[in-house]
Formats: sequence, C-alpha cells, structure tokens
Amino acid sequence: MVREFSKVGVVGMGTMGAGIAEVLARSGLEVVGVEHDEAGVERARGHLERSTSRAVGKGKLTPEEAETLLGRIATGTDLDALADCELVIEAIPERMELKSELFARLDALLPADAVLATNTSALSVTELATGTSRPSKVVGLHWFNPAPVMGLVEVVRTVVTDPSVVEDVQALVQRVGKTGATAGDRAGFIANALLFGYLNNALRMYESKYASREDIDAAMRFGTGHPMGPLALLDLIGLDSAYEILETMYTQSRDHRHAPAPLLKQYVSAGLLGRKTGRGLYTYAAPDSPEVVADDSTPIASSASPRPVQRIGVIGTGTMASGIVEVCAKSGYDVVFRARGDDKVAAVQKKIEGSLDKALQRGKVSEEDRAATLGRITGTTSLDDLADCDLVIEAVVEDLAIKKALFSALDEIVKPGAILATTTSSLPVIECAQATSRPADVVGMHWFNPATLMKLVEVVPTVTTADDVVATVLEVCKKTKKHPVLCGDRAGFIVNALLFPYLNDAVKMLEAHYATIDDIDFAMTKGCGHPMGPFALMDVVGLDVTLAIQRTLFEEFREPGDVPAPMLEHLVRAGYLGRKTGRGFRDYSRR
Ligand code: 3HC
Repeated sequence: MVREFSKVGVVGMGTMGAGIAEVLARSGLEVVGVEHDEAGVERARGHLERSTSRAVGKGKLTPEEAETLLGRIATGTDLDALADCELVIEAIPERMELKSELFARLDALLPADAVLATNTSALSVTELATGTSRPSKVVGLHWFNPAPVMGLVEVVRTVVTDPSVVEDVQALVQRVGKTGATAGDRAGFIANALLFGYLNNALRMYESKYASREDIDAAMRFGTGHPMGPLALLDLIGLDSAYEILETMYTQSRDHRHAPAPLLKQYVSAGLLGRKTGRGLYTYAAPDSPEVVADDSTPIASSASPRPVQRIGVIGTGTMASGIVEVCAKSGYDVVFRARGDDKVAAVQKKIEGSLDKALQRGKVSEEDRAATLGRITGTTSLDDLADCDLVIEAVVEDLAIKKALFSALDEIVKPGAILATTTSSLPVIECAQATSRPADVVGMHWFNPATLMKLVEVVPTVTTADDVVATVLEVCKKTKKHPVLCGDRAGFIVNALLFPYLNDAVKMLEAHYATIDDIDFAMTKGCGHPMGPFALMDVVGLDVTLAIQRTLFEEFREPGDVPAPMLEHLVRAGYLGRKTGRGFRDYSRR
C-alpha cells in the first residue's frame, strides 16, 4: 500500500523551499515551513504571497483558493514544529556540512518511519542518508525553479533507499501534479548534469566579452525556443546555488567544463546573487522581480549610419536560400537570386509560391501582399545579374573552397560599397573576407532554418568588418522582423557553440546508462521548459549534422569534454541519421 503523506515539513524557505511549500499546499497538504530567522520567515511569506497572487492574476487560482493555500502553510523558526511531520524536505543552501547537521537534528526529532528528503541538486544523497540512523528512508527530491510552474521532480534513490519509500514519494509527486523521474545518485542527476555545463559555457562566453548577455540570451531563446536564455536562467536559479552546484559537479567529474567561471565567484562574493537579491548578471526592478532594468552593462547602440539597401542578392537554391529570398521580398526588398540552372530557378519560385499560398490560407498575408512579394523576386543563372545589389547573401554548400571562389567572383562583379554576407554556420567568415579586395564589406549573417519562421540571425563581424556594414545588416534584420545578435567570428557562434556540447553530453549520459532517452528528453522538457528534449532535437537536426558541428567545435576549442560521443559516431556510421532516414536515436519507421 502506498503511503499517503498529509503533513510535510519544508526546511529552508528560500525561492525553492517556498515554491515547494506552495505546490504541496495547493494540493491540500498541511505544510510546516521552517527558516533560520524571522527575516527569513518574512521573506518566505512575501515570496508566497507574490507567487500566489501571480497565479491568481493568471487565472490559475481563485483568490479564495490562494487564501486557503496560504492558510495551510505554517511558518516559523523552530525545528521542533516538524516533530509530527511524515516527510521533511530540506531546501537549505547547497553545503554538505549544513545539510548533514540538519539531517542529524531531524533524525533525532522525527518518528522512525518519517521520510527525509533533500532538494540538493548535486550533493551526494548517499552521504546524507548514511549519516542518519534511517538511510533507507532518505531520498533526493529535486525540484525545478519556479517549483509551482515546472512539471518535473527528480526522485533520487541511493543504493540503500527502500524501494517502497521511492514509491511513496513518487505517489506524492504525482498527487501534487508533477511527474517524477527516478534517477541514481550522481552529481547533477539528469537535468542539472546537462544544464550546468551549458550554463557555465554561456557564462564563459559572456565573461570573455564574446557577446553581450542580452545577445547570448536572445540567441538561445530565438534560436532554440528555450523559455529563457542561460544568463537570465542563472539569475533565476541563484548565482550562489549555481556556484555550489558547479563546484560539486566539478569535484565529482573533474571536467574542466564544470569548473565555475571565475565571474560567477565574483558575483557571489559581491552578494549579487541573481533575481532574489535584485541584482545578478542583470539588474531587476526589485528583489524577486522578473522585470529587468538597464544598468552599466546594457549595450549601447552603435552610432554608425547604415548604408542604403534596396536590392538584395541571394546565392543558392536550398531551403535556407529560398527562405531568405522570401523573407527579404516580403519585407519590401527587391530580391534577385542566383541558381545554377533554369530548373532550379523554377523550383525556388514554385517553393516560394507554395509557401506564400500557405500563408495566404492562414490569413498571414493578403492577396495583394502575395502578388507584390512575388513581383519583387527575380531568378537568374548569372552572377552578373547581382552587380547592382546593395547586399549579397550567399547560402551555398558549407565548403570553404567553394565559398572563397564565390566571394572572389562576387568581388569582381558586385558594385563597390555593396556588402557581401555569408550564411555559413561553421566556416570562418574571415576566410571569405580575405578572398575579396574589400574585407571591410564582408560579414557573417547566420540565419536559422526555416528562415521564414525563426526570428534569430547571428550577425558576425570579422576583425576587418566596417562598423557601418554591421549597422546595415542590423537594419536589414530589423526590417525583416528578425532579432539580430552580434557575436565574434569563431566556430559555432553563439547558438551552436552552446547547444551542441549539451546535446553531445546527453549522448554521453545515455552511453553511460545513467538514464534512458525518454527520461532525458522528459527531464529537459518538463524540468527546464525546453520545447524538445536533446534526443528528439538531434533526430530532427540530423545525427550527421550534429556530429559534424560537434567535430568542428572540438577542432576549434580542443576542449577534451567536447570530443564527439562514440555512440553518435557509431549511429552515423550505421546510417541512423534521424527522422530523415526513419531512424536515429528513436525508430520512426514503425510509428
Ligand atoms: N502557480 C501556478 N502557476 C503559475 C504560478 C503559480 N504560482 N506562477 C506562474 N504560473 C504560470 C502562469 O500562469 C503561466 O502559465 P500559462 O503559460 O499557462 O499562462 C506560467 O506559469 C508561466 O508564468 P509567467 O507568465 O509568470 O512567466 P513567464 O511566461 O515569463 O515564464 C518561466 C517564466 C516559467 C520561469 C519560464 O521562463 C521558464 O520556464 N523558464 C525556464 C526555467 C527553468 O529552466 N527552470 C529550471 C532551472 S534548473 C533548476 O531549477 C534546478 C536547480 O537545481 C537549480
């Protein structure tokens, strides 16, 4: 028989503890929340009130339900108030000595059959369990911030946990409307083990001034559909917690990628802990407020004036090229695209017509706009027809020799003052620039697929690109309703450099038999709100493409942790390339 908990204690009522208490109380449980001082209790009540009134404002709770919910949570500073709890969840700072001491006190206080749970993200649950007189009744119960919103709770069992306790706790997780993923006791469990390498990588990117915090975050939101960018997420998690989690992960993995970025330590030492203190990597309107306000690090717009652009040339006939043609023409530019044969010219025209027909059916464009857009597009097989373009965007195959030859030819043909852009996602833009006599006019413009839908464009100036060239490309992005981000000319730019090592880590986790494909995908979608889990995403992107990008990143940065996972290599060799071949990590042939 599964045990039904009715009274649960929560020790540590910070952002996580208060969130956990809210979730439990929302499902009718009686909750006792303990903080170490009155100020902590005050903060917790304030947090609970703000969070529940947000839920009321969003129609998730009625005012009466919110009041009843708050009435179910008793708060105080005395641990003795937990004496008759059947389950106590600790959510105090991520320090082993603090947690061990608390567990020793709770062990002495609580009935022998009470369950002790830790919300630790990375510390050893086994060590905590074996320090008590009831190791079989100790579990990890790892929640995600904000606890009232995120759907996942990782239930961590150690080698000594009683399976029936895991079942009881799983039943509780289900009862409070969350889904539990059971995991073994390893630093970071499933989600954090994958998330924190990525977050730390983003921090290092910011620390090295490779891109602004706003651009790093926008790149990941618009490029991958994540609900938050990594730096904003670090602020939400709390920079102190993030530091401790990375530190513990590094201690266990000795993987340099987990060594906390020095910048993180500086913020923590300065007491700038993120959203909860009103200042972290960003500055907020007030402690606990989600509203970001400008500060000294807010980027200042460049004063360079853009060059006029009316006519845009696009080279290529692939998905990317035809998407760019459509987007630019829709935004009022005259577009001439160059294909290698008349059949390809016709194919691109047909594709764009089809896409506009769909948009028309969905009411996204009017009949007149459709006709006007098509009227602005000309196809050609001759590069010479691009001579009077103000901006030429190439989207041909990712082969450096081919791109260099093309840039050299364009340099001869296209009028002086015109900008030459490459959509490369993995080759150095500077190589294309050096193939011309006008390196100051060459820039990277990395669009995302499908260009008609994805809002992001990574704009990549090289060391030689002129400021007004950057200003012009930013202006074109604005006019085409894209969100441009600026980054340096190195492998992976922002999105691929952050995304693919994370995907590769997921393969390594699978290879290590720590979790299944479904568990990992589930953890990342429910725990972090990602639109797709890593395996679903790799199957869409293509395992061959994933492997090629990961290899490029490894060759550029020589980071040992970024060596492509052998399993990825094997699947590609076997021809399991993802959805396009009917089989990748998952088998689609029988669905
Ligand atoms: N109770 C119930 N529902 C609530 C609520 C509450 N107290 N407060 C907000 N909501 C609901 C809202 O109604 C809304 O629902 P809807 O989409 O159906 O309208 C939803 O939650 C989103 O809330 P908001 O509108 O207030 O806020 P945003 O849309 O700006 O989303 C966010 C904010 C949920 C934080 C989102 O940006 C997100 O999912 N970010 C990713 C967070 C993440 O990755 N968390 C995991 C971090 S790792 C971790 O925590 C582990 C630890 O060990 C470090």
